Amino acid sequence: MSLPAILKGLRIPAVASPLFIISNPDLVIAQCKAGVVGSFPALNAREAEGEPILLEAWLKRITEELDRHNQANPDRPAAPFAVNQIVHRSNTRLMRDLEICARWKVPIWITSLGARVEVNEAAHSCGGIALHDVINNRFARKAIDKGADGLIAVAAGAGGHAGPQSPFALVREIRDWFDGPLLLSGAIATGEALLAAQVLGADLGYIGSPFIATHEANADPEYKRMLIDSGAEDIVTSSLFTGVSGNYLAPSIRRAGLDPAALPEADADAMSFKDGSAKPKAWKEIWGAGQGIGAVRDIVSAAEVVARIETEYNRARDRMVAAAQQGRE
Ligand SMILES: Cc1cc2nc3c(=O)[nH]c(=O)nc-3n(C[C@H](O)[C@H](O)[C@H](O)COP(=O)(O)O)c2cc1C
Repeated sequence: MSLPAILKGLRIPAVASPLFIISNPDLVIAQCKAGVVGSFPALNAREAEGEPILLEAWLKRITEELDRHNQANPDRPAAPFAVNQIVHRSNTRLMRDLEICARWKVPIWITSLGARVEVNEAAHSCGGIALHDVINNRFARKAIDKGADGLIAVAAGAGGHAGPQSPFALVREIRDWFDGPLLLSGAIATGEALLAAQVLGADLGYIGSPFIATHEANADPEYKRMLIDSGAEDIVTSSLFTGVSGNYLAPSIRRAGLDPAALPEADADAMSFKDGSAKPKAWKEIWGAGQGIGAVRDIVSAAEVVARIETEYNRARDRMVAAAQQGRE
């Protein structure tokens, strides 16, 4: 099956993944202008009681700025953007946010945690496509049964709520029966890794952590610095902070007075997005990241992240083509 038109023509085959708190309109606009799909969780747009709905304002700004950019740069238009919906019973804003996103004709809808028919129908009602993130083949089948158009395979090493499975195993099992849009996530922080995702059978990479260390990202400067000073061995997997297994920076856990090597397990039933985040305020400064951060060396602009990955991707592809050629000679 060929990719939907909306996912074609990107500068590199990648979607910048939604990051809780961190993804704001500045980051999304920069990602889209740089030529990758930019995204944000709807829950990041939180207004105080009685204030105008912030999600409306964000969608207006993103839509208008990208339209302006496209008119000025018809030869290099921006990539489309995506909004992430947390489909969990504790997300009491879900129905309101679906209605707002449908009204603004959001082109790409990314759903996490729950697969629900009515969410996919809302995406389709405005001509959008729905991509659902999954950590195993069973959830992948369920998501497609419920009407998702595509899948995001969240493999081991991803930032946030990563899955435990190797990308080699996960992509293969899904590709055995699914030929629709498939994205792969988990420590994709270089052009080499992005090309490898396509070699495995994914259409696009899904990249999160490298965009945390950007000028546009809404993250504490300390967080950005800790991320560039850390590597894969500094990533700790724990369910303590949200009730579901996730990957975090060990130095931030130590700073909170905890031993990253001896964290207790948490109760998954305790998970709640009532206040926007599954992470209680006490853990606000426990910072998430995936294992790919060794490739992130400086705080740069989102456009520079995309440019670096593009250079690496082209170089890796040329190397592979030359190696394949030599093998035939
Ligand atoms: C700090 C942080 C916050 C995240 N917040 C969300 C979120 O709100 N919604 C979501 O669907 N995924 C979220 N994720 C997961 C990412 O969308 C994506 O799956 C992951 O970052 C990919 O792995 P990588 O960071 O190794 O590139 C988050 C990840 C991180 C690191």
